[in-house]
Amino acid sequence: MAGSNCLTRSYLTLTLALLIIDAQKISGQYEFFRLVSFWGPSRCSLNPCKRTPPVPKFTLHGLWPDNYTQPLYNCGGTRYIPLKDQRSINARDNYWYDYFLSKPPSAKGNWRIEQNFWAMEWNRHGTCSENVFNQQNYFNLAKTLMFTYDLTYIFFNARSPIQLPWPRVRDVMLAISKFTQARPELRCRYYNNNKILMEVVLCYDVLGKRVINCTRPGNVFCGRRSSRIYLPTNF
Ligand SMILES: *[C@@H]1O[C@H](CO)[C@@H](O)[C@H](O)[C@H]1NC(C)=O
Ligand SMILES: *[C@@H]1O[C@H](CO)[C@@H](O)[C@H](O)[C@H]1NC(C)=O
Repeated sequence: MAGSNCLTRSYLTLTLALLIIDAQKISGQYEFFRLVSFWGPSRCSLNPCKRTPPVPKFTLHGLWPDNYTQPLYNCGGTRYIPLKDQRSINARDNYWYDYFLSKPPSAKGNWRIEQNFWAMEWNRHGTCSENVFNQQNYFNLAKTLMFTYDLTYIFFNARSPIQLPWPRVRDVMLAISKFTQARPELRCRYYNNNKILMEVVLCYDVLGKRVINCTRPGNVFCGRRSSRIYLPTNF
C-alpha cells in the first residue's frame, strides 16, 4: 500500500515537473494576453475622430502579450506584413478600427499610413508572443478572441445591470464576468472632471484558449467599485 502510494506520488511529481517544463517552453517570455477593446464613442470623445465610427461598438485596440513581473513591448522579431487584398482589409477594419484615418484603408493606398495602426500593434505587442504565434496566427487569434465575447451585447442587452450612461464600476465588472467567468480590467481616462470608460480588457492564458482573471482590478483606472463612470451613449 505504502509502496504504491510512494510510486503514485513520484509519478505525480514527475508529471508535474514535465508539465512545468512544458509550460515554460510554451510561454517563453510572456505569461498571458490582454485583449483590449475600445468603446468607440469614448475614444472619439477624448480625441476627435476623423472617421465616423460605422456603428457604436467595441473595437479592438490590441492583443497584448504580457508578463506578470515585467511589462513587455517592442520585443523585436519580424516586421509587419501588410494585408494586400481589399476583402481582408475590410474584414479587419470592421473590428480593428483606426479612428484617425480620414477614409477606410484601401488595398491601393499607402499601407504604411493606412495599416499603420495594425503595424504598430504588431511591432509593439505582437512580436512579444512571436515565439508561440507567428504573425498570421497572432492576427487570427486576435480576431477569434475579439468575436468570442460580444461586449456590445453584454452592455446593451435588455437584462444588463449596467445603468447607462453612468454605471458603477462594480456593475460593469459583474456584468462582464457573468459572461466570461473571469474578472475583467476596466480602463478609464479623465474627461471633463469625470472618468470615462475607455477600454475593457479581457485576460487570456498563454495559448489564448481560456479567459483568466485580470490581475489589476478595475478600480486602478476607474476608481472605487462603488464609483460611477461615464459611458457615452449619445450616438
Ligand atoms: C517573464 O516571466 C517569466 C516567468 O516568471 C520569466 O522567466 C521571464 O524572464 C519574464 N520575462 C521578462 C522579459 O521579464
Ligand atoms: C477568478 O477569481 C475568483 C475569486 O476572486 C475565483 O472564484 C474564480 O474562479 C477565478 N476565475 C478564474 C477563471 O480563474
